Amino acid sequence: MKRVLIVGANGLLGQRVARLFVDEYDLYCASVEPESYLDLHVPYLQLDITDRQAVFEKIRSVRPDVVINASAYTQVDRAEEEPDLCFAVNAEGVGYLAQACKAGGALLVHVSTDYVFDGKKGNYREEDNPNPLGVYARSKWLGEQRVKEVGGEFLIARTAVLYGMGVRIGPNFPLWVVHSLRNGQTIRVVDDQIGNPTFADDLAAALKTLVERGARGLYHVAGPEPISRYDFAMEIAHTFGLNDTKIQRIKTEELQQKAPRPLDASLDVSKLWRDYGLRLRGVKEQLRAFRTLYEQFQAG
Ligand SMILES: NC(=O)c1ccc[n+]([C@@H]2O[C@H](COP(=O)([O-])OP(=O)(O)OC[C@H]3O[C@@H](n4cnc5c(N)ncnc54)[C@H](OP(=O)(O)O)[C@@H]3O)[C@@H](O)[C@H]2O)c1
Repeated sequence: MKRVLIVGANGLLGQRVARLFVDEYDLYCASVEPESYLDLHVPYLQLDITDRQAVFEKIRSVRPDVVINASAYTQVDRAEEEPDLCFAVNAEGVGYLAQACKAGGALLVHVSTDYVFDGKKGNYREEDNPNPLGVYARSKWLGEQRVKEVGGEFLIARTAVLYGMGVRIGPNFPLWVVHSLRNGQTIRVVDDQIGNPTFADDLAAALKTLVERGARGLYHVAGPEPISRYDFAMEIAHTFGLNDTKIQRIKTEELQQKAPRPLDASLDVSKLWRDYGLRLRGVKEQLRAFRTLYEQFQAG
């Protein structure tokens, strides 16, 4: 049985990957918090990936065949105020993971973002040149470069507009829409930021398939349908049977977000289809699955 170490296992993606891998793999989980948020009964290690020595020690002690890095500094606006921490986690920490994986002969599966692009063109393919706009985006692009420079075995999966359910997870866009509309609040949503919504369970399943089929290199692993945030919010409202008249259409410049956003960061996901016949679910279908999971969590 292959040994898999999930780093960032307490995050949204990490939790969904852990739940998917637990039955078929010799699973180890690690994250920066002292305890696991999951009740999976697998070994849990506290690990801050900015600590190079700790990264090497943990990977040497676990001896994984595969390390899945679901950890990241993910707060795009806050990153503008704490760039050092953001770069330490998303670039240098990722580099340490890549070095330790190479030393231990493990495959590193690393997750990156559509925000590596400037959003001027859209429909980005893997071979398009990144031009990240803000601190978070630059740190993630540097993280990709670190993985490649180290020269071990790697798979980089760039994803987008990631959302889902988990224990004590941070905010994500559909959750914000659902909670706001349920509370009768009006929400202002931009109609000029475009991305590929990706349900975390679908990304987790795609990563599992890619690992099992020996994929290497860079892939765009995201939902197949680019959509504006406004249209996505409308779809969310409809899926959850909520009042869509409370969703106000605005432009990005009205929001005054701290970090610059790529406007059309849509990803071309055809390489995934061409090489592995893999296609994630479309927006409506993902959202139906999300609603089911949401209701399971609500029911406890
Ligand atoms: N969310 C999106 O829309 C989106 C879009 C494109 C790509 N992505 C990428 O997808 C991946 C997964 O994102 P996500 O939404 O699942 O993120 P998330 O829920 O924020 O999870 C990230 C996890 O990493 C942990 N972490 C932070 N700093 C760490 C450190 N120094 N050492 C170890 N662990 C650390 C976090 O702990 P704390 O919570 O305690 O900080 C958290 O548990 C990330 O690489 C992200 O960049 C996300």
